[in-house]
Amino acid sequence: MSFLSATLDRVKPSPTIAVTTKAAELKAAGKDVIGLGAGEPDFDTPQNIKDAAVAAIAAGKTKYTAPDGIPELKAAVVAKMKRDHGLDYTSAQVSVGTGGKQILYNALMATMNPGDEVIIPAPYWVSYPDMVLLAGGEPVVIEAGLDQNFKMTGAQLEAAITPKTKWLIFNSPSNPTGAGYSWDELKELTDVLARHPHVWVMTDDMYEHLAYDGFEFCTPAQVDPSLYDRTLTCNGVSKAYAMTGWRIGYAAGPEVLIKAMRKVQSQSTSNPCSVSQWAAVEALNGTQDFLPKNNAIFERRRNLVVEMLNAAEGITCPTPEGAFYVYPSIQGCIGKTSASGVVIENDEIFATTLLEETGVAVVFGAAFGLSPNFRVSYATSDEALKTACSRIQEFCASLR
Ligand SMILES: Cc1ncc(COP(=O)(O)O)c(C=O)c1O
Repeated sequence: MSFLSATLDRVKPSPTIAVTTKAAELKAAGKDVIGLGAGEPDFDTPQNIKDAAVAAIAAGKTKYTAPDGIPELKAAVVAKMKRDHGLDYTSAQVSVGTGGKQILYNALMATMNPGDEVIIPAPYWVSYPDMVLLAGGEPVVIEAGLDQNFKMTGAQLEAAITPKTKWLIFNSPSNPTGAGYSWDELKELTDVLARHPHVWVMTDDMYEHLAYDGFEFCTPAQVDPSLYDRTLTCNGVSKAYAMTGWRIGYAAGPEVLIKAMRKVQSQSTSNPCSVSQWAAVEALNGTQDFLPKNNAIFERRRNLVVEMLNAAEGITCPTPEGAFYVYPSIQGCIGKTSASGVVIENDEIFATTLLEETGVAVVFGAAFGLSPNFRVSYATSDEALKTACSRIQEFCASLR
């Protein structure tokens, strides 16, 4: 019998991290590399948040806390849920974890039994299926392609539900596509869920604040309040507040689930970093003034990237509603040959050849469950984006 856990054979390492590592290796070897792979803002954490962390250290708030968060942060989450979505929660219905990732993981660990199914629309954030597998469940993937703006329809959801379905994982605006569901589009899904009371919704609202062209974010429990008792609303400070390294995520939902998640966390990592929790209190309660300023920058970059990619031969790039990603199709490049003689058979070969021939690092679509595409993160400078998109244009033009 193998020394390593058989469960690990069910999962693969994060491909987004693999791309970032490969790009770093090429850079270290002296190649001029532009990384469009990382899923984090290039902005610094706002000063008021950093100050709150420094003050917490100075005040000695450096000890263990309650395993799933300090009361002040839970209160800030309760206030945020009311302020932004009109949803009423108590602190006992809130869990704080080490990043949004741990929150999702805890929820799956706390609920999966062998054979339980979890519906995941593709393209999906890379970790969803693997976290379901690690927790012992079965991912059920629904493809939502470019022709449907990467959004699942009610009919698709209806067809995927079985008596074994436990969760739908919902993510809007989405990583990797940036697609955001309007109220009506989400209502189409919540109407289906309303007919299937055994299915719970894990909504990952991580990119809530990153929305453009006046797109109005909405979350399932808000669109259909009858789902409140079976919805886990997950969020975090990583993306909107440029706090990826601080590792704070949170969720609000039914107390029975929150308690079970606390059990998982208290027997694994225990409390998230105390100092980061105080910083997150300031993120949620403090000024939100920088959000529209950052969004204006992201919107400009999105427009730049969409325009330049659509000008590349063989690429079609829709304009997404939010996040900081675009997810162009490379259908028109498939079957062609690169200058170095590589046949572009799929999006993984496209991404590898693009990196090797031009130094531009993107993540191939197969990693997100929908091909042939690639993901560009535009959370980098305008200059880097212009140079990278020009190189993509030249690369596509060179394909024969
Ligand atoms: C959709 C989505 N959910 C959750 C996370 C995890 O965020 P965190 O860094 O807070 O763990 C990410 C990060 O890339 C994400 O893109």
